[in-house]
Amino acid sequence: MKILFADKFPAAQQAALAAEHTLTNSPALDEHSLVTAIGDADILVVRSTKVSAEAIDAATQLKLIIRAGAGTNTIDKAHAAEKGIAVCNTPGKNAIAVAELAMGLMLAADRHIADATQDLKSGQWNKKRYSVADGIYGKSVGIIGFGAIGQAFAERALAFGMSIHTVIRTAQGSSSLAQQRLTDQFPGLTQHPDLASLARHCDVISLHVPFNEHTKQLIDAEFLSQMKPNSLLINTSRGEVVDEAALLAALDEKPIKAALDVFCNEPSAATGEFNSPLASHPQVIGTHHIGASTEQAQTAVADNVVEIIASFANHQQFLNR
Ligand code: MLT
Repeated sequence: MKILFADKFPAAQQAALAAEHTLTNSPALDEHSLVTAIGDADILVVRSTKVSAEAIDAATQLKLIIRAGAGTNTIDKAHAAEKGIAVCNTPGKNAIAVAELAMGLMLAADRHIADATQDLKSGQWNKKRYSVADGIYGKSVGIIGFGAIGQAFAERALAFGMSIHTVIRTAQGSSSLAQQRLTDQFPGLTQHPDLASLARHCDVISLHVPFNEHTKQLIDAEFLSQMKPNSLLINTSRGEVVDEAALLAALDEKPIKAALDVFCNEPSAATGEFNSPLASHPQVIGTHHIGASTEQAQTAVADNVVEIIASFANHQQFLNR
């Protein structure tokens, strides 16, 4: 089969595929250049590159699009389905890396690590400026989205002495068995009836939901108005889960902070120009959608991509569809 990699893909996993397939590496494709590059590929593997309806229409042989990551929101799935093209992903494979970044953002925001570093690099010694009232020990963290990443984050937050809160899962369509497993795994878990209650109680809110029609702008003006003064919103999920205009207004109006790895207007490839009033807001720290950017996570993701390709090539079956 012909496989097109639109983003960087590890060498060892490429070698495993090269024996049986024809590989094309185009690690810098964006949404537009993909349209001309896709050609007669049977399988397309993407990480950051957006896959539009136009790219899908331009493909002459495409059967499978693999998102080397959990979220598939950057792929026009409805159009792929219309054309009979399968979309698979690698859920859970980068969960620890994303949870670790969320922890890092929480600690950095709490202790002003980004500002202090900038200050230090500019030759300033400002020991007094960066002392805080208390740390995160004993604080409450509200986790929205309690899947693989949310649970990995909860385990780490527990180790830091935080209390864990979430929204009642049955309200989100989870079975009572899944609900029971969750309370067995996190015995002290506090479950709130709704998002407003979670916002009112928690010192930190961390988002770990996928982006879909149910989670679009889940964090809206109403939610932000309920957040406690001095609380922190962490987003390592998708920019679109937050109403960014409402967050900007809330940051101007009240003393809350945000730590963001994801934004609505991210470039359509791994590199590009980026301007965001949110990213430059003084109460915000941020990174470049790098939650999954560890070699360890990318290796686990790439192994799963190889399994998906083998399953399709050998048995016409789609893993993680
Ligand atoms: C994901 O959807 O798993 C992450 O966005 C992955 C990534 O950034 O590669």
